[in-house]
Amino acid sequence: MYLGLDLGTSGLKALLINADQRIVATAHADLTVQRPHKGWSEQNPQDWCEAAEKALLALKASHPEEMAAVKGIGLSGQMHGAVLLDKHAQVLRPAILWNDSRSHIQAARLDADPQFRAISGNIVFPGFTAPKLVWVKENEPEIFGEIHKVLLPKDYLRLWLTGEYLSELSDSSGTAWLNTAQRRWSAELLSASDMDIAQMPDLVEGTEQAGRLRLEIASKFGLPLGTIVAGGGGDNAASACGVGTVAPKRAFISLGTSGVVFVANQQYSPNAESAVHSFCHALPNTWHQMGVILSATDSLNWFAKISGQTPPELISELGETLKTPGGVSFLPYLSGERTPHNDATVRGSFIGLAHESDRSALTQAILEGVAFAVRDNLEALRAAGTEITQAIAIGGGSRSIYWLSSIATILDIPLEVPQDGDYGAAFGAARLGMIAAHNLDPVAICTPPKIARIVEPVSQLSIAYEEAYQRYRSAYKRIASFDLSSD
Ligand code: XUL
Repeated sequence: MYLGLDLGTSGLKALLINADQRIVATAHADLTVQRPHKGWSEQNPQDWCEAAEKALLALKASHPEEMAAVKGIGLSGQMHGAVLLDKHAQVLRPAILWNDSRSHIQAARLDADPQFRAISGNIVFPGFTAPKLVWVKENEPEIFGEIHKVLLPKDYLRLWLTGEYLSELSDSSGTAWLNTAQRRWSAELLSASDMDIAQMPDLVEGTEQAGRLRLEIASKFGLPLGTIVAGGGGDNAASACGVGTVAPKRAFISLGTSGVVFVANQQYSPNAESAVHSFCHALPNTWHQMGVILSATDSLNWFAKISGQTPPELISELGETLKTPGGVSFLPYLSGERTPHNDATVRGSFIGLAHESDRSALTQAILEGVAFAVRDNLEALRAAGTEITQAIAIGGGSRSIYWLSSIATILDIPLEVPQDGDYGAAFGAARLGMIAAHNLDPVAICTPPKIARIVEPVSQLSIAYEEAYQRYRSAYKRIASFDLSSD
């Protein structure tokens, strides 16, 4: 048995697989995000441990024998978050998350220092870890002075599980402190943000061993003492392991809280100007590129909350057959945008509202707005020299065939829908746990799932969608000149 733990933004998932990689059991615990100020997004790391505890106790209750047979554990999680610890491993302040835009001024300042793009291969985005630390130094200097270690969210769970300060390369790529080509911390970049390499955990590959389960945890959850914990991966790299996006030219599109267009590469292929991320993959000698949309299903969740419907209820009002684009455009920039705009201050908009714009017209506009943002990411990857000709669709939003159909049409590529199952980050993490426990060949384990259905572009609507995409782009240009983020 192998256990994957994925620390998402809206919840933590625990998933058990057997030696044939069949899913045996899953458990979930919800998490909430605190937004104490405009643009802020925080969680208390203690809540992550409580969520893990809840999910692991549920698995222990339902599958005690399987839990006692676990041989490897893999971790995955929301990337970029800053967990600040003092020398007694106490949390100094709530973790600042990936979709928090408070440090955009600090990010722009670091990004203007040419060594960041040259060594890390990426724009220093406000969501990345380094500018968050500069913000803490400037705004909470007493806390900054106490920092003994900085951990990423899933590596805080590792500390709780194993007592070890360790991280791996895929997640660490999102700090802006990594020498991404050489797969090691950059002492230069750390010191350029007044940090010291000693404040960072040691690094391993995602497929390597990174700690063993400590006694208290093992006995509490009925897991074997000393079980191997793998390096694991940031949630996107771990998802890639789950859907077999580990070989060159393979791609996935994920519609989760954030939206991601992800491609695996054999070489390090930076192209910071395009706002595409160039990160280490969770497998050795492998890198990946990705475009990131900050609010994908989060846009629909936002509308669901204010309209009093659930997201599936909203989507079902549209039916399954793709409609001609509506007259309303939606820009999904609820927390600013990463790829391709790198714009922390832009905010979301509906444009073109009329008396006849009812609830379903707004839902349609939201799905289309996210689809156009995915197309922006495809264009950014194209500008970075990477062409995508087909992709696997994953994430909660990919359950909507309507949504996939609009994305396939505006991208003009077929989208593969895996057979029923769960190929997300928790599954990828469990695979990494399996690889690390037995030193297996990662490519042989991280195979693609069987495909249940291919969603093809609706060619008779492609001109209408292209025109609507051009309207969306010009709407961004018009609203980008307003600073909508100030208090
Ligand atoms: C990736 C990113 C998001 C988070 C969400 O760069 O910021 O995908 O990892 O979980």
